[in-house]
Amino acid sequence: MRPDNLKSFITLLEEADELVRVSTLVDPYLEISTIINRVSKGAARCRALFFEQVKGSEIPLVANLFGSLTRVGWALGTTDLKALVKQFSRDLAETGDEDAHAALAKLVAKPLWLPEPAEAHWLDQDLSAQGLTSLPVLQSWPGDGGRYITLGQVFTLHPEHGPQNCGMYRVQVINPENALIHWRPESGGAMHMQAWHARGKAMPVAIALGGPPVMTWAAGLPLPAGISEADLAGYLTGSPLGFAACQTSDLCVPATAEVVIEGTIPPGQTRLEGPFGNHTGRYAPPTEAPVINVLQIFCQKHAVYPCTVVGPPPMEDLFLAKATERLMLPMLQHDYPWVQDVHMPLEGIFHRAAVVSVESSTAGSVRDIAESLWSSILLKNARLLVLVSAGEKLDDPSHVYWRLVNAADWSKHVLLDGSKLVIDARSQPGAAEVKADPAVLHRVLQRWQDYGLN
Ligand SMILES: Cc1cc2nc3c(=O)[nH]c(=O)nc-3n(C[C@H](O)[C@H](O)[C@H](O)COP(=O)(O)O)c2cc1C
Repeated sequence: MRPDNLKSFITLLEEADELVRVSTLVDPYLEISTIINRVSKGAARCRALFFEQVKGSEIPLVANLFGSLTRVGWALGTTDLKALVKQFSRDLAETGDEDAHAALAKLVAKPLWLPEPAEAHWLDQDLSAQGLTSLPVLQSWPGDGGRYITLGQVFTLHPEHGPQNCGMYRVQVINPENALIHWRPESGGAMHMQAWHARGKAMPVAIALGGPPVMTWAAGLPLPAGISEADLAGYLTGSPLGFAACQTSDLCVPATAEVVIEGTIPPGQTRLEGPFGNHTGRYAPPTEAPVINVLQIFCQKHAVYPCTVVGPPPMEDLFLAKATERLMLPMLQHDYPWVQDVHMPLEGIFHRAAVVSVESSTAGSVRDIAESLWSSILLKNARLLVLVSAGEKLDDPSHVYWRLVNAADWSKHVLLDGSKLVIDARSQPGAAEVKADPAVLHRVLQRWQDYGLN
């Protein structure tokens, strides 16, 4: 149970009856995504899907690998995600650093789990002549601007300093040699690009597909600059990941990747990217995006192409985000021990809408509390925060709604800060809770048969 590459993860899922093979020829234009969408909503027990024959490509495709929290746990090498979270919390505390970022940096920098050089598995086959269109890249929704690589680990380096960044960003294929990358200006990759372009230089980029499943999850983590996703992945799985050098740049990618695309992003070249059907249930409108010039594409002999469909929830990406919520909570609690728990409903996870239970002894105004929460990795972009008292049932929407609509005084308990909204639905000091008398409740339960109410 510690899958160290995509194929061993597929085997693990198959043995656990968590993956179905589809041998019928299927179309990457809309058909595969329609199947994946139905399965994400409950068909075929939400299992992972292995499409053996994809129209227009020699390469089979796997999707919905991470379509449950249990499966994300397996990708991280554990059957007990809660235990891993507890261990992480203890290890952060043992560093002795009061600041969560400093504690994390110290923890993941141990040589025990730093990435190791390894031989590339992805150099078997050169697809460079055929280009990007030889991959079974999906168009998911009818209004999408084209085909998108959705589950790539995008590696970049600052031109002068710091570790590699690995992020998950959508990549639109526009022809065999070119693609467009969509990244928010504050993302690690975009900041690296700015630094290269400010020096008038093209930025090298490498997109890895497959390899250790923990790296696919880690690519979606908003880690602070200076902390490497690969180091954290090694710490969480308890062993170093093997990385191999790229051929056209100083970048390194997982040695067991299935497919590796190497290219450069020159300064001053952009094109319209999108529209892209996303998790809001609406299309993101077209925007100018940097162009990737592909230099080479290599893949394993029997490569499998992993992908995901982004769209109205529930979709696979929500479970990746849910695992992030669980694992980043200890970081938040390290800095703010008064945070009891966090629940980010699946519908709002990528807007980082969160219900946060806070110890009643917590001092400070709603703004003080919100600003502390916004300073964390997990909640820095939260556009909706609902504060409730410790002990509330955070994952029960009707319970939270009940607390919310009864929050005493909207003029004092609602804070609108730019586009961010905070609602303080904690019980007011001194407001006693309505509860049955414990002794009477005990007696009633004992006598329940006598009332003839069974
Ligand atoms: C399936 C999936 C698709 C994503 N697509 C994008 C995207 O297109 N652009 C983006 O900026 N972030 C996207 N994200 C979120 C980023 O991966 C996330 O913010 C991550 O922290 C980026 O890494 P960075 O902090 O090193 O920039 C996506 C996440 C997932 C799970």
